Amino acid sequence: MSGDNAERLIVALDVETYEKASKLVELLSPQVRWVKVGSQLFTREGPRICELVRSSGLNLFLDLKFHDIPNTVYGAVRSALELDAGMLTLHTSGGTEMIREAMRAVEESGKRQVMLLGVTVLTHLRIDDFVTLFSSTCAPREMVLNLASLAQQAGLDGVVASAHEVKILKGHLGKDLKVVTPGIRLEGEGGKDDQVRVVTPEKAIEAGADFIVVGRPIIAAQDPAKACQRIFERMRSAEQRD
Ligand code: C5P
Repeated sequence: MSGDNAERLIVALDVETYEKASKLVELLSPQVRWVKVGSQLFTREGPRICELVRSSGLNLFLDLKFHDIPNTVYGAVRSALELDAGMLTLHTSGGTEMIREAMRAVEESGKRQVMLLGVTVLTHLRIDDFVTLFSSTCAPREMVLNLASLAQQAGLDGVVASAHEVKILKGHLGKDLKVVTPGIRLEGEGGKDDQVRVVTPEKAIEAGADFIVVGRPIIAAQDPAKACQRIFERMRSAEQRD
């Protein structure tokens, strides 16, 4: 798959404060198009962090992983759209009715270009967790496919899933369903932290990921701008192999 790599890299702004986020935005905005604001930063800093992102000319992925009764999720999505988010997440396991209410909020706003993504299975979970949490011996891959299929049927634009599952998702559900993949690590660099099923940027792109989400390998690097360049190089190398 070819395309503008800058459009396909999402940097996770997983830092504690507005000041740290602001420094990263300043460093990265010349080369990056998307940044992701998650619950840590948003809970502390609130909407002003979204304003910082948008006023820097970046697209905002507001990753608050909504999971509540349909009426509450409808209201949460409406609020997120007021913050000018271009991508939003909700837990697919919230069910079809919850997803439909989220979509109704997007439709009513007239912002049909906003991507509404379903979180399938969080990438830190191991097979043992599946038994404990869901009394299920279902393989993670099967669980991801079931949830992604539900997301698609309910009308979501895409899903968040490990790069390990991209091929099977695209194979079963078609290329139109966007797949956003976190759990990205450069080979030979650092540990996996709490991510269990990690993949390199080139492998994720080769597998067909539409977007890759990268946090610590960029934001915790000595030189985040350089780390970002290295990720772009890896993405390019994958495209050249196509
Ligand atoms: O630092 P790292 O590259 O592991 O960051 C991954 C980001 O992707 C985090 O912000 C995390 O919340 C997010 N994420 C994830 N697994 C999912 C969904 C989102 O790691 N299934």
